[in-house]
Amino acid sequence: MYDFKPDPATDPHELHRQLVEAADALTAGEPDGVANMANVAALLWEFLPDLNWAGFYRVAPRKDGNGNELVLGPFVGRPACIRIPFGAGVCGAAAQSRAAQLVADVHAFPGHIACDAASRSELVVPVLREGEVIAVIDLDSPSPARFTEADAEGIAALAALLAARI
Ligand code: SME
Repeated sequence: MYDFKPDPATDPHELHRQLVEAADALTAGEPDGVANMANVAALLWEFLPDLNWAGFYRVAPRKDGNGNELVLGPFVGRPACIRIPFGAGVCGAAAQSRAAQLVADVHAFPGHIACDAASRSELVVPVLREGEVIAVIDLDSPSPARFTEADAEGIAALAALLAARI
């Protein structure tokens, strides 16, 4: 059994440091990307308070074979939309721009895809391998403006760790 017992009162920078440390311990030496994404989705859920969805979309082939799009990966939360084209919604914007999207009010984000009507704010961080997007990490919260620059920095560090492990 793994029991990391994060204290939600911890300063966000320290919480993210501990999250990356736990993710490193869980994924080191494990080559199976699905197993690693599944465990990291569970860690995100345990470590970060006030979430209603935490998980991955992977860059994968479109069903018609015509290029790639984002395809649902391991997550914790309600069942979600399976396929998201590059440029669509918050996840698609992160994948297309290769830049994190910190959205305080999802209702004000053009094209936001509402997988769970409870979502009010969102953070999406691309996972880059050799400069190419291979996945995004998506966090949703039922609270407006839940995510901060500390969260964006922490999840970027997590994405950098995972780039060679998913
Ligand atoms: N809201 C996201 C879609 C994914 S769900 O939040 C899990 C978006 O606009 O890309």
